[in-house]
Amino acid sequence: MALLDLKFFPDQVLRSPTGQVVSFDHELHSFLDNMRETMESENGIGLAAPQVGVLKKIAVIDLSVETLIEPTIESLSSRLPQSHIHDGCLELLNPTIIAGEKKVSSEEGCLSIPDFRDSVMRHVGVTVEAVDRHGYAFRLTASKLLAYCIQHEVDHLNGVLFIDHLSPLKKHFFKKWCKKREIPDEVRLDGTK
Ligand code: CO
Repeated sequence: MALLDLKFFPDQVLRSPTGQVVSFDHELHSFLDNMRETMESENGIGLAAPQVGVLKKIAVIDLSVETLIEPTIESLSSRLPQSHIHDGCLELLNPTIIAGEKKVSSEEGCLSIPDFRDSVMRHVGVTVEAVDRHGYAFRLTASKLLAYCIQHEVDHLNGVLFIDHLSPLKKHFFKKWCKKREIPDEVRLDGTK
């Protein structure tokens, strides 16, 4: 296994479109293992492929976090529900959020935006459909922290960062973060040019 290099805001790779995963081979599996190792070494609970410069629809989420409420998993490919979870790690490939409950405030941070945290509005529960590392489809329903995390990671796969959901007042705090890091004013926070 190996640690992967993290990409940081305002790197444009974080704003770029991602492609579907089509081969579920050894190369994919070692990339997933490396993503997990990178996430754990950074103490993150989730990581999306664009954050390591790979423009594919792949995200990993650590399910060992104590405060997580266990998700409900339904296999869409006649497998055992738990077989879609890889050794305590939720691997979402080609995910689509198909349903969301009412929105609540969620305090978030992001490994690509170090030392900045703030609250954004997220669905308190979501249902997501994805395939696992072997290409088998499943549907997962999550609430609270895991649901927020899924929305945050799926956003990454669409070039969206949690700062995009900040209210105008809170964006002001983020601009201060940019200033401290000498990120020039002409960098658009939302990634548009
Ligand atoms: Co993030």
